[in-house]
Amino acid sequence: MSNPLFNRKPMSVLTEESGSSHGLKRTLGKYNLIALGVGAIIGAGIFVLTGQAAAVYAGPAVTVSFVISALACAFAGLCYAEFAAMIPIAGSAYTYAYATMGRGVAWVIGWALILEYLFAGSTVAVGWSGYVVSFLDKNLGIALPPELVAATGTKLVKTPDGWEPLTAELANALETKGILADTLPQVTTLMNLPAMLIIFLVTILLIRGIKESATFNNIVVIVKLTVILLFVFFGWQYINSDNWVPFIPENTGEFGSFGFSGVLRASAVIFFAYIGFDAVSTAAQEAKNPQKDMPWGILGSLFICTIVYILVSLVMTGIAPYTELNTAAPIAVAIDKAGAGLSWLSPYIKIGAIAGLTSVILVMIMGQTRIFYSMSNDGLFFKPFSKIHDKFGTPVTSTIITGTVAMIASGLLPIGVLGELVSIGTLLAFILVCVGVLVLRYKEPNLVRPFKTPLFPVVPILGIVCCTGVMIFLNPLTFLIALGWLTIGAIIYFVYGKYNAKY
Ligand code: ALA
Repeated sequence: MSNPLFNRKPMSVLTEESGSSHGLKRTLGKYNLIALGVGAIIGAGIFVLTGQAAAVYAGPAVTVSFVISALACAFAGLCYAEFAAMIPIAGSAYTYAYATMGRGVAWVIGWALILEYLFAGSTVAVGWSGYVVSFLDKNLGIALPPELVAATGTKLVKTPDGWEPLTAELANALETKGILADTLPQVTTLMNLPAMLIIFLVTILLIRGIKESATFNNIVVIVKLTVILLFVFFGWQYINSDNWVPFIPENTGEFGSFGFSGVLRASAVIFFAYIGFDAVSTAAQEAKNPQKDMPWGILGSLFICTIVYILVSLVMTGIAPYTELNTAAPIAVAIDKAGAGLSWLSPYIKIGAIAGLTSVILVMIMGQTRIFYSMSNDGLFFKPFSKIHDKFGTPVTSTIITGTVAMIASGLLPIGVLGELVSIGTLLAFILVCVGVLVLRYKEPNLVRPFKTPLFPVVPILGIVCCTGVMIFLNPLTFLIALGWLTIGAIIYFVYGKYNAKY
């Protein structure tokens, strides 16, 4: 008897499930799909993590880190596009893996994707909180209690620019201005209340059954892109090229802290900024011509975001010294730095960021409930997760549990820890997708592949190498947590999934 870990979900079942469950109209063309990708990609990565990556790891060379991460994503994206065009039904890497590589790989990918989507919602919520707090404080004059605006146990110090996390870099930066951090007011935070609040609101919306509407998404994408391009266009004139020198600050003696290793470490941190292009695949059933347009949606959105990220990081580090960017709202800080000439842009950037981040939180939490739904439907995860509420027509139990976990994580954990967990989950899924493309080309050479990754087998191999390369620069603690996560996953499989799996 063959090992059930290699059982595959029959293609006929997938097609049937996808046809019966939604009855969606095929309305999305190439450009809608690209917009969908851009909508899911641009979020806390560029609006928040870029600042931390520049201030703590790479300096102005964070721009190079964006190029390195983009390469890893491009190779993985090409492999993703091959799968998405081959199995053009709504799904995710989990579904592709179950149909092609079997239950074992599907389970690992599914479990990695939970890490991605669940905690991505929390990470982006923390970014949202940063911009809301800054908008309320600087633009409306409403200061929230500092104890309630950051992860549990964060030490905040009141600098002339407002409350900021007390890090060694900030203390050094203040000292160069003749200010001793110890002489300033300090608090230790309880939780990040605004982050919890936005997850709560998004969860309620999702329970009530918000349908992703292409029009709504297109508007949010236009708002997001407009504020970012305004920043690049007007900010360009305020660049002080002295801020780019040294472009790669000298390594501090610690691996990953500036120097070349710092650039690589930063590329692991800002890898988060590219996550989301895989969400395009969830719209496969609404695409007019999925075989041709899926690759466009995935690769086109990735390309646009790469260009945008390079420009934003150049302008950000050109306007403000990188040492001052380790804040919750670094683009806003860069604008403030430019002085009165650019201050008109500040509220628009914040409103654009707040709207843009809200849509990413929505997509991520909804994506998570769909992954749970598929896994539960296949018998690999607990039954209530695929139960659809009679009145709302949504997976209410799954949404409430997902929302609650995401909410707690967003209130307690700092954005750096959350973002790295998301990255490790995504990188693991990407690596397995690349492996899947390699294996399938040899095992099933005759499958119809409307889109083939070019330069086979170089692209999937480079995808595996680059994603692994980016991964090893993540914090060792992230690996430990991820290992614990996979262990919990394995236990659930062996006590539940193994006996309940349908295929
Ligand atoms: N790429 C998305 C973001 O940066 C997840 O928020």
